Amino acid sequence: MSAFYLTTPIYYPNARPHVGSAYTTIVCDVIARYKRMCGYDVAFLTGTDEHGEKLQRAADAAGVPVERFVAEKRELFTALWRRLGISDYRFVHTSQNPAHREAVWWMIRQAQRAGYIEKKKYEGRYCIFDERYVSDSTDPVNCDICGRPAELISEENYFFKLSAFQDRLLNLYGEHREFVQPDFRMNEVKSFVKGGLRDISISRRRLKWGIPWPGDDEQVVYVWYDALTSYLTGIGFEGEKRSKDFEKYWMGADGPTEVVHMIGKDILRFHAVYWPAFLMAANDPLPEAEKLPLPKTIFAHGWIYYEQDKMSKSKGNVVYPEPIVGGLDFFGAPGNDALRYYLLREAPFGQDTSFSYEALIQRYNSDLANDVGNLANRTLTLLQSRFGGRIPTTSGSNPSGSEGELHEAELHAFASGLTLPEDSDRRLDRCDFSGFLEVIWHHVANENRYFTVAHPWANDDAEQVATVLRHAAQALRKVAALTYPVLPLAAPTLWQQLGEGQPLDGVRRGEPLTWEEFPDGAVVGKPVPIFPRLDKAKTLAKLHELAEADRERSQPKGATVTVSSEMPQSANPSSQPLTPAPRPLIPEKITINDFAKIDLRVGQILSAESIPGAKKLLKVMVDIGTEVRQVCAGIAEYYQPEQLVGMKVVLVANLEPRKLRGVESNGMIVAASVGDDGRPVLATFNEEVPNGARLK
Ligand code: ME8
Ligand code: MG
Repeated sequence: MSAFYLTTPIYYPNARPHVGSAYTTIVCDVIARYKRMCGYDVAFLTGTDEHGEKLQRAADAAGVPVERFVAEKRELFTALWRRLGISDYRFVHTSQNPAHREAVWWMIRQAQRAGYIEKKKYEGRYCIFDERYVSDSTDPVNCDICGRPAELISEENYFFKLSAFQDRLLNLYGEHREFVQPDFRMNEVKSFVKGGLRDISISRRRLKWGIPWPGDDEQVVYVWYDALTSYLTGIGFEGEKRSKDFEKYWMGADGPTEVVHMIGKDILRFHAVYWPAFLMAANDPLPEAEKLPLPKTIFAHGWIYYEQDKMSKSKGNVVYPEPIVGGLDFFGAPGNDALRYYLLREAPFGQDTSFSYEALIQRYNSDLANDVGNLANRTLTLLQSRFGGRIPTTSGSNPSGSEGELHEAELHAFASGLTLPEDSDRRLDRCDFSGFLEVIWHHVANENRYFTVAHPWANDDAEQVATVLRHAAQALRKVAALTYPVLPLAAPTLWQQLGEGQPLDGVRRGEPLTWEEFPDGAVVGKPVPIFPRLDKAKTLAKLHELAEADRERSQPKGATVTVSSEMPQSANPSSQPLTPAPRPLIPEKITINDFAKIDLRVGQILSAESIPGAKKLLKVMVDIGTEVRQVCAGIAEYYQPEQLVGMKVVLVANLEPRKLRGVESNGMIVAASVGDDGRPVLATFNEEVPNGARLK
């Protein structure tokens, strides 16, 4: 049995996972189920990437020790995978994991032995959000992935001689076209590498949260070097010590094996350039037989957008899977399957796509409820009423003249496995999920047309009706088996309703589900609708209601109330120290009298305008009943002045006045600081409150 090792990215547990991270995991689950049905021995890895500055800062913002922060957030990932029915996966986490530390140390020592690591001064710009070196110049620059300003770093680091690998990487790409998929991504990678490679810093000095550099306690390993190595750890690699699974899935000790990393396009460079170079470096000192093979394929898919923007935890434009699944379940639809089907069917895999609740319901209703659901319902109902629930044997006569004949040939071919899997499964092999589903739905449409032409419900010829129903049952049975990786809840239900006893995940795809194989006289179950039709308006309302409730419940624990007359936390990141000053984990207790010293008042914004030369500040005039206050608020990047006028806010009224950029600020507006870039969200009221009312 061939082995197959498939990985998702090892996600940052800085916040709970959203539909974007679920997307990659769902796709991998589909592939894993498919490969198992093809007879592969599959290992499927996901996990959390827990070190680095981004996590350290997220934990600081939450006021929780980072070890505890990542351990808690990690649970949110496994909980979601459970909710989404992700099958039989392994989970690796990178912090507090001695096996992983050994793996990383081994990789570094090998590279040192081969002479690819040297210590030198680094100066340049670093993006904390994407944990990447953006530019080796100190000039201010924005990260070209997320667009945020990159921070200045200047420290002595260990460098990896990436430049030494240019030719070897280009050879790899030339010899193995499948190394980067889709093809157009391979072209991007090639031209990047042809443009020349610079050596990269692979350690951080001012950061403590990471794997200590072997032999140098002042440095920790760069988080990407650490994270990529977890693909080895996750399968039982601990440096010199290696598990049987590692030997099987990575080394191919028991026969052929394939290693595939599924990722989003945002992290392609790390996987297609850095990762093979890190492996080549580790391999250099080893004899041929001991070298670690390179992965077979890095597949980089597109981004899911929501409201024109890449979904991202810090932008707040995030869609979560739980309310979608829960909302559809509420109406009796299989929510997990509907979400999976939608994500895979809506756009060609590899391309960017936009998420829409409406399109999800639309897809569900047309493809699942209408096309497959109705066919199943009609077929099973007629089998019950005309044949006592038995699938009839037929002589195969054609019930409906020439048009019927045409469909019949095609349908017979479909159901007997003659045109499939070439048509459909070859597409799955290429990760063309939408193409795969299109082929199957093409056959479903044909079957529906055939049904309509033959109109068995008004046909007295039992032999003809038997033929139509047997066809339909065969086609449905095939649809159930083929779509099982995509519809792991609904497909087995349909399969059982058609009288099959054997579990679907035991069905092998290589062995065609032949026409004749359908047991004669098989008894079908009661037609219980597998895909009940959804009322669009009601479902949308429910989804929005659940999403709202979910958002409220999960307001990040780390949302802290700050005062926004100062710069928001990240508004000027390039001037921030690399490691934030340690904060008390639980703020010191104060007495009620201490609190009473703060004069918090309801205010109403009368006007807001930008301040020339201060792009983060707005000058805001606030009516607090007894007077109008001028306040400078560091919210210009997040609020438009017009949006603010008329808004009720909370003002710290007895703060000493100060000048910001030469403009007097007399008070502070209170805001929550949300997400890892500290987006300010102004505190306001749900009810009418008079200006000047005191908060206590
Ligand atoms: O990059 N659309 O972790 P991460 C599509 N820890 N896919 C999305 C998405 C979106 N809107 N948002 C996230 C990291 N993803 C590193 C990986 S691997 C050794 C280390 C998916 O939490 C997509 O797969 O930022 C993307 O590549 C990944 O989540 C990034 O996850
Ligand atoms: Mg990311």
